[in-house]
Amino acid sequence: MSCESSMTKRLDGKVALITGGASGLGKCTATLFVKHGAKVLIADVQDELGDSVCQELGTENTSYVHCDITCESDVENAVNLAVSKYGKLDIMFNNAGTLGDSEARVTHASTEDFKRVFDINVLGGFLGAKYAARIMVPAKKGCILFTSSLASKISFGSPHAYKASKHAVAGLTKSLAVELGEHGIRVNCISPHAISTPMFQKSMGIPDKKKGEEMIAASAVLKGTVLEPEDFAHAALYLASDEAKFISGVNLPLDGGYSLSNQSWKLGFAALFG
Ligand SMILES: NC(=O)c1ccc[n+]([C@@H]2O[C@H](COP(=O)([O-])OP(=O)(O)OC[C@H]3O[C@@H](n4cnc5c(N)ncnc54)[C@H](O)[C@@H]3O)[C@@H](O)[C@H]2O)c1
Repeated sequence: MSCESSMTKRLDGKVALITGGASGLGKCTATLFVKHGAKVLIADVQDELGDSVCQELGTENTSYVHCDITCESDVENAVNLAVSKYGKLDIMFNNAGTLGDSEARVTHASTEDFKRVFDINVLGGFLGAKYAARIMVPAKKGCILFTSSLASKISFGSPHAYKASKHAVAGLTKSLAVELGEHGIRVNCISPHAISTPMFQKSMGIPDKKKGEEMIAASAVLKGTVLEPEDFAHAALYLASDEAKFISGVNLPLDGGYSLSNQSWKLGFAALFG
């Protein structure tokens, strides 16, 4: 599957703000949203990369703003820019995130790392929702999306701070869905399993995208395919589109059934009996 989908435009006339849109899953989602007729404001801290994504996608439909999502005034500025540039805000996608120290064992984990992970993954998303809601509540409609992680559903070795922060994102999604539903605003999150993005490759010490995909495929429940950024982007497209008009408060797993399976029995059996 590719971001170059030729389906009808499912976000025609909509305006989206995507945090972490300069790289990985955010970039792929920005690409697909533009293909489907949206105007997209990319908010990130990687300015050169963000600008080059806009050049790639066309500056008539995209723009970039420097925004550290842990800084309240940056987030407020990004939301206001989306509205002043494109006239409204339909979709707020709080996608930026960090894994933090991937080696951190609880006995040696640093408090600074824990706080930083929560500042980016939880506070950053909360601020995005706060300023988006200030626009969406009077408009009586809107869609707020978060990127959580399969780490919000099962344990497979992610650092504690990351795992706890992604649980918090899923909790925030439900809490906001209830409060904002009254104003016609839908709130959902997506929980992908591992996808071979720059974040994944760096955390696993994997040299390239292909090696990462091979590793992910080897442990997958669903065989014959591999989870790619485009699959994530399509899930976001569905949740952001009017096709999902009655879907709110959902933490959507994107894992090919991985979270339903517990491989420990099979591994233990194999270790004992070969
Ligand atoms: N790749 C995976 O395997 C995977 C799995 C589950 C969840 N996720 C989640 O997906 C989201 C996107 O990750 P990705 O894999 O595309 O990684 P990525 O590193 O390619 O992209 C993350 C982006 O977020 C930006 N960012 C980080 N801190 C920021 C800040 N303070 N302010 C603004 N932007 C900031 C980075 O500059 C980067 O462009 C994250 O929330 C991550 O936790 C990824």
